[in-house]
Amino acid sequence: MIISRIKLKNWKNFKEIDVPLRNRTFMVGPNASGKSNLLDAFRFLRDIAKPGGGLQNAVLDRGGVSKIRCLAARTHPDVEVEIHLSEFDSEEILWRYAIGIKQEPRGSRLPFLTYEKVWKDEKLILNRPDKEDTKDKERLTQTHLEQINANKPFREITRFLESTIYLHLLPQLLKHPQSFTGPDLPGDPFGKGFLERISKVNQTTRTAWLRKIETALKIAVPQFKKFDFIEENGHPHLEAVYEHWRPNGGKQKEDQFSDGTLRLIGLLWSLQDGDGLLLLEEPELSLNSAIVSKMPALIYKLQKPKKRQVFISTHSLDLLSDKGISLDEILVLSPSAEGTTVLTASSIPEIRAMLDGGMSPAQAILPRTKPKSINQLTLF
Ligand SMILES: Nc1ncnc2c1ncn2[C@@H]1O[C@H](COP(=O)(O)OP(=O)(O)OP(=O)(O)O)[C@@H](O)[C@H]1O
Ligand SMILES: [Mg+2]
Repeated sequence: MIISRIKLKNWKNFKEIDVPLRNRTFMVGPNASGKSNLLDAFRFLRDIAKPGGGLQNAVLDRGGVSKIRCLAARTHPDVEVEIHLSEFDSEEILWRYAIGIKQEPRGSRLPFLTYEKVWKDEKLILNRPDKEDTKDKERLTQTHLEQINANKPFREITRFLESTIYLHLLPQLLKHPQSFTGPDLPGDPFGKGFLERISKVNQTTRTAWLRKIETALKIAVPQFKKFDFIEENGHPHLEAVYEHWRPNGGKQKEDQFSDGTLRLIGLLWSLQDGDGLLLLEEPELSLNSAIVSKMPALIYKLQKPKKRQVFISTHSLDLLSDKGISLDEILVLSPSAEGTTVLTASSIPEIRAMLDGGMSPAQAILPRTKPKSINQLTLF
């Protein structure tokens, strides 16, 4: 299944957007235009749907409704999120799920639902607030999506949303987890527990996935020879051997790997692990441009057999220079004082004309994402 459309109202820096989504969707825009906030809308739905999650935790983890609600919101203050679900490669809508959220005006100021609706094949099968909700308002502090005894008619949506994975691996966090104490973040977005995640996969599958990564690393990382997963004193580690001036090349653990090597391992692992929606935050970071330019094709190759949807936020010219990327797959985010707008690149006539003139998507789109007064930065 894939999310074929998202509609947001008052979600962070988006006052109102309605965007079609493809199997593979790239999100581009200047700094602070809302790429991460857009990815966060999908993480928010995952956090509601996942076991032990729920609406209250999902809102609390984001600092409350007042942090989520768009600062440009005025007469219509509800935060609203709606998604359409379809099969991979299809535009036919199988499901629609929509919620509106507000904060209690007094007292504990808990978030509550102004509505929760589910449509199956365009037929409305859940329409809250219902009679029970009117009798007991407290019920509106929980979605039916998060409740096993209430979501049976649309459990497929819950299962799909809870399998969403977000990856923004921070190498330093993986190399030195002991230096970053405090409670773990929901969903481990920055890869602090990445090695534990590897250790939980059964040995046969793990070995098969690591061998594939090893093949890629041999191509991408000079001197890299082989690579294994080991457990030492009950702790999981990655161990690599590089071709060295020493005949039996010294073994190195993950804390000695380069940042790019770790980010590439994280990316290649995540593309193999799971089959739900995968959210990749700037996968180009720390990587050589030749590797980055192969990413779109690599993502396509690994997502296709699993019918898995992948969203990618990026600033990279190399990544978008792949001629195989269609303009329908690129969302262009443009900030303004009244919130960020989001358009599919194919709906912008100037971009289409530039592509007809022989330019790559990168050449046509990225100049639009640079700040207007960028030349003044050198006067700093
Ligand atoms: N509730 C809100 N209302 C309006 N704007 C908000 C709200 N919450 C966050 N923002 C704005 O969103 C911006 C950050 O957006 P985000 O991190 O998604 O940008 P980005 O496109 O991922 O940028 P980068 O390329 O630098 O990672 C900030 O400028 C912040 O002020
Ligand atoms: Mg960002």
